[in-house]
Amino acid sequence: MKSTQNNNERAIFATKFGAIATTVGSAVGLGNIWRFPYEAGIHGGGAFMICYLAFVFLIGIPVLCSEFIMGRGTRSNIFGAYRKLRPDHNWHLAGYIGILASILILSFYSVVAGWTIEYCLSSLFGQLKFSNTEIGHGQFIELTTGWRPVIWTVIFLACNFFILIGGVTKGIERASNILMPLLFLLLIAFCINSFTLPGFKEGVKFLFHPDFSKITPSVLLGALGQAFFSLSLGLGCMMTYASYFNNDNRLGKTAVTTAVLDSLVAILAGIIIFPAVFSFGLSPEAGPTLVFEVLPYIFSKLPGGAIWSTLFFLLLFLASLTSTVSMSEISITYFCEEKRWSRKKSTVVSSLIGLAGGLICALSFGPLSDFTIFGMTFFSLFDYLSSNICLPVGGMICSIFTGWFIDRKFVKTQMTDNGKYRFPMLRPLVFCLRWVCPTAIFLIFLNSIGII
Ligand code: TRP
Repeated sequence: MKSTQNNNERAIFATKFGAIATTVGSAVGLGNIWRFPYEAGIHGGGAFMICYLAFVFLIGIPVLCSEFIMGRGTRSNIFGAYRKLRPDHNWHLAGYIGILASILILSFYSVVAGWTIEYCLSSLFGQLKFSNTEIGHGQFIELTTGWRPVIWTVIFLACNFFILIGGVTKGIERASNILMPLLFLLLIAFCINSFTLPGFKEGVKFLFHPDFSKITPSVLLGALGQAFFSLSLGLGCMMTYASYFNNDNRLGKTAVTTAVLDSLVAILAGIIIFPAVFSFGLSPEAGPTLVFEVLPYIFSKLPGGAIWSTLFFLLLFLASLTSTVSMSEISITYFCEEKRWSRKKSTVVSSLIGLAGGLICALSFGPLSDFTIFGMTFFSLFDYLSSNICLPVGGMICSIFTGWFIDRKFVKTQMTDNGKYRFPMLRPLVFCLRWVCPTAIFLIFLNSIGII
């Protein structure tokens, strides 16, 4: 079969660069720049960082490979992939976890993406303050209480919807091929700026100096969830993207490149945020609002702070869009391919479900802030359930399935492109998928509920 042809008329990425850029585009987003610093902040910095990196390489890369193998090997969405590989079993039910979690994630993600629009426009129009004591938490509260976040969430979801419905996904991909490297450069520039801050040493020590006594069950679970979240793993998102890969895409290389670039962006974000946290006497444990409180301080020390701020939040908004487009794709392909709905109907229905979830999460910073379940607002609950439970469970099922239930030859064919490339890591990969990933995830779960 030629690389541009395939039997069920699915689209295929035109170039290798396009495939990698889109995969990285899905992975890099708020997860790296907003979620990583705040999770690292509440979980003790270095201790979290070391667990996170260990999980990315020991669990993330193998599970990423297994999603790639299943997606490209079957050219299907998550349901179709399980069904084609094991028609006689109910493995495809794992797809429902994917759909549920993708909707939960889309809901709270859109709220944070809405903040990026708010911050971008406020910096552009001079409302975001950079030079007095009100910046930080006070300003965040001012900008995000009441109904304002609801409006921005709706606007963000509308942008997501128009991209999906207008079929301009290609457009956003092309734009992100240029803009994502720009975001990367901007992060490097801010990182260099961090060196000049008085709290640089303390910030870097906080992030890179692991205090092993701080590794608690909740740190382990948080780091595991973050590794999955950041790599867009566990829901079949990467599976769906891999179903659009060319036949000669070297899956192992793509997986490693994605993981390395994704972790790099998270580390850069950490190097930007923590020195500032210590320089300005803030607390690293602020939670989900951390990055939005700290960044204005950083911009306030830069000449032309408002311009940097506008540009940064604009790029962050675009990075969020490439991620939400990828997570929406999970439910849309489900409705299209499993329920045989038209693409338009599928997009409308999944967007409406996302909108309902988004509204609930947006309100949990205002009118619904006192409404908590297990001590968490809807926003935090959706994040916790999806990232710390659904994603690792989805990843565990995928790795057990690939390790134990798919023919080893199929795995080999996918990883070596039918013997065209050498893939010396086949044995270690299968070993990880069979033993390391499921056992580690299972033990972390047991540990976090206090059983071991
Ligand atoms: N990885 C993205 C980020 O870091 C978020 C994301 C996109 C995601 N698609 C996903 C998370 C699928 C989990 C599953 O911002």
